Amino acid sequence: MKVATLCVLVAALTQGALGVLSPPERSYKILMLLPVSSKSHRNVFMPIAEALADRGHKVVMLTNHPKSSKHPNIFEVTHGLPHFREDNVNMFDSRKDPTGGLNIFVTALPAIARDMYKVKAVKDLYDKRKDFDLIVVNHMFNEVAYPFVHEVPFITVATSGMDPRQSAVLGNVLNPAYVSNLLTELPSPMSVWHRLQNLLMHVSFSVYWRNWAIVPLIQKEISAQFPELPPLLDLERNMSLALLNSHFTISKSVPLLPSQVEVGAMHCRPANPLPQELESWITGAGAEGVIYFSLGSVARGNSMPVQYRNLFLQAFRRLPQRVIWKYEGELEDVPDNVMINKWLPQQDILAHDNVKVFITHGGLLSLQESIYHVTPLLALPIFGDQPKNGRFVRDSGLGHFLVWEELTEDLIVNALTDIISDPKYKENVMKMSAGLRDQLISPKELAVFWTEYVIRQRGAPQLRSPAAQLSWVEFLMLDVLLLLHLALLVLYFTLRRVLRAISAKIFGSEGSKQKKE
Ligand SMILES: *[C@@H]1O[C@H](CO)[C@@H](O)[C@H](O)[C@H]1NC(C)=O
Repeated sequence: MKVATLCVLVAALTQGALGVLSPPERSYKILMLLPVSSKSHRNVFMPIAEALADRGHKVVMLTNHPKSSKHPNIFEVTHGLPHFREDNVNMFDSRKDPTGGLNIFVTALPAIARDMYKVKAVKDLYDKRKDFDLIVVNHMFNEVAYPFVHEVPFITVATSGMDPRQSAVLGNVLNPAYVSNLLTELPSPMSVWHRLQNLLMHVSFSVYWRNWAIVPLIQKEISAQFPELPPLLDLERNMSLALLNSHFTISKSVPLLPSQVEVGAMHCRPANPLPQELESWITGAGAEGVIYFSLGSVARGNSMPVQYRNLFLQAFRRLPQRVIWKYEGELEDVPDNVMINKWLPQQDILAHDNVKVFITHGGLLSLQESIYHVTPLLALPIFGDQPKNGRFVRDSGLGHFLVWEELTEDLIVNALTDIISDPKYKENVMKMSAGLRDQLISPKELAVFWTEYVIRQRGAPQLRSPAAQLSWVEFLMLDVLLLLHLALLVLYFTLRRVLRAISAKIFGSEGSKQKKE
């Protein structure tokens, strides 16, 4: 037996987490492309990368972040371009921007398209792309990566969950009568105005991104460097499968194709023991419990406007609970019941019984972790899909949803007190958590299975929906409707003629008399 094969088998046998899957036939080479990604996008990729690497596959990742994995089978390549650095963006400022921060993409994405393939490490990887068995692309924001997938089987990971634009590309056009668009969650069932608004949002966002403001600019830069390459959106259409960071338990039940696999909350894992200091701080809070406060990895604590920071400090001072606040930077006048730290083991904290509520920006991963570890939420969304997640928290009874601009000390105190004292929130999260965990195999195993499936099935053409081949005219049957209309018109005029002829026969030749006059 060859050493490489042996390594694969040993790796497959020694790790228990993926015990349901049979050992892989051989070690695959997998290239993951997430050159334009936030930290949270990368956090969605890491569990798949590690699970695949654990099974003995070689995983190469092209990212815009410093190396983070110590796994011997994961090789990270950082392109180092400065155009998209979340650390440089103040997310609170984007709240004043009417486009919600979309503008940074108009400049950043074409610049990355222009410069990325000039970076030697990226060019080398590009030249070797056909050595890989499969490419995995971060669907959101990463059209710049599509030159890689030309003539190589590829799948995507929809890090932000279901994106109706992507679903349409796969041939599954989600019905705007009941599926909300990417950014706004509308009440269900939708009124006629909501459906009109939803339809317009679905269409306009897609056209804005794909056909007007963003992709055409990227395309121009790419065409200048790869004149022979098919258009990026045609390359995208050749995707074999999309792994969606969603689950119907924690969003909505919508029709999916076999090529759309829900693997949401894949990064959630059972708790590890907390560091001693944190453990004793949390248990030391006694029956009052602990509030955990974190705005995630993108909005840094010190970017929070000072008036909000002070509101929180004053509100916390009034509460009997202890507070753990993930905050980067120095804070003055911190009350005794508040602990500040710039890095905290979030999942292990959320899993602790004495942690009663999670104050969150409502990022998708934080939402998933809170549900998985059964902690009610106070959502304070900042940008992007977070307001949508905030409304989900409120409408599903998992906690409260507040708006930054309307914050007062009393609102904070009352919302937190209500969530902690009324058991219904915890019960609702518990029910949802039980639903999320009630799966045949874990989402991570599912992701690994389908990734290997596409390689084993050489791009898995059997997964493709015939709908993906249709034009809009064919898909909406506009041509058939036109034919039906024509047939009706012909029928109408024929009948009219016949009726006239008959009436002329019955009522004499009035018509012919008139003609003579
Ligand atoms: C489309 O995908 C198939 C299978 O994944 C691959 O073999 C083929 O080369 C791709 N075509 C293009 C034009 O990239």
